[in-house]
Amino acid sequence: MKELYDYKVTAAGRVNVIGEHVDYCGGKVFPAALSMKNTVYVRANGTDKINLSWTTLPDKVSLDINNLERYKSLKYGNYQAGSALTWQRAGHKVLGCDMLMDCTVPFGSGLSSSAAIEVSTIAALCAVAGETCDPVEAALKAQQAEREFAGVNCGIMDQYASACGKKGHAMLLDCKTLDCEYVPVVLGDYAFVIANCNKPHSLVESKYNERRAQTEEALEVLQKHTDITCLADLSAEEFARHAGALSPVIERRARHVVHECVRVREAAQAMQTGDMVLLGKLLNASHESLKELYEVTGKELDALAAAAQSHPACAGSRMTGGGFGGCTISLVKKDCVEDFKAHVAKAYRDATGYTADFYEADISDGITVEKL
Ligand code: GLA
Repeated sequence: MKELYDYKVTAAGRVNVIGEHVDYCGGKVFPAALSMKNTVYVRANGTDKINLSWTTLPDKVSLDINNLERYKSLKYGNYQAGSALTWQRAGHKVLGCDMLMDCTVPFGSGLSSSAAIEVSTIAALCAVAGETCDPVEAALKAQQAEREFAGVNCGIMDQYASACGKKGHAMLLDCKTLDCEYVPVVLGDYAFVIANCNKPHSLVESKYNERRAQTEEALEVLQKHTDITCLADLSAEEFARHAGALSPVIERRARHVVHECVRVREAAQAMQTGDMVLLGKLLNASHESLKELYEVTGKELDALAAAAQSHPACAGSRMTGGGFGGCTISLVKKDCVEDFKAHVAKAYRDATGYTADFYEADISDGITVEKL
């Protein structure tokens, strides 16, 4: 079946090591692309239709390339339609083609299955059109598709990581300038373990957009006192000086952003100097801040992070991604990973009734294109 296609194109899911809810505030983030990914098998079909099918779904969907706006409310295929539309609007050739989708990023896990689908769709369209895909442009257009077709006013982190990831490296990405420094993920005796809390999450879009609006409100007030262009420009000292101008809730949101930006810098340094104890402490502090100040964790993620943090071989643990459900990332002594998982699974089940899933973080490339 797959051999009937001309190209195999992939884009990655991602895990964010640290730097949560700061990308849309112009901050630096520290994600890595995962080997869990979306694969598109694609061939041109000489028509005006993009025909979609899935390895894991019986559905078949046909998109008219001259009318891509009309697919916003599709259950399956809206991300592909949105990505094709934003790519087309940017002046790129979008040809009729058959696409078979195979996604190994668990949906709703906070590991960016949607970014993987969007970015791989754009890269697949490039392949059939004979164009070389600029991964940064693909990421920007995929982000626009997420905003317009999924209603999430997201930052650039997920799509950038999905497109531009590099095997064995995390990305210290400046979301204001899109400068990216690749940092080798060398964890010594430790490994990253990802755990999914498996709580079906709702209201993610509206809460996410609300948080983003609150940071914009903070910026507007603080700009009356400072000459910053984004919240991430503010040092912790400057923030402390002007925080009194903000209402209590908005002050908490902004305080998270300012201090999370400091932690990202320290975490990247800790990784570079091999200080796993410090890296772990920063992960814990990030979770605490997302829980108490930014309020995007929830009972399940808090229970999962607490279960991880209570294991003696765990240097630190935090939620990763947008929050309200999804995954944690933990830094765990390599030779204790199995014991860690058993401990966390039990403590988490006892606390919430849910069964967690675990994934080893295999850090991989972003977009790949293979001629079949
Ligand atoms: C989601 C968004 C990202 C980012 C994270 C939180 O994954 O898509 O842009 O804001 O949440 O860090």
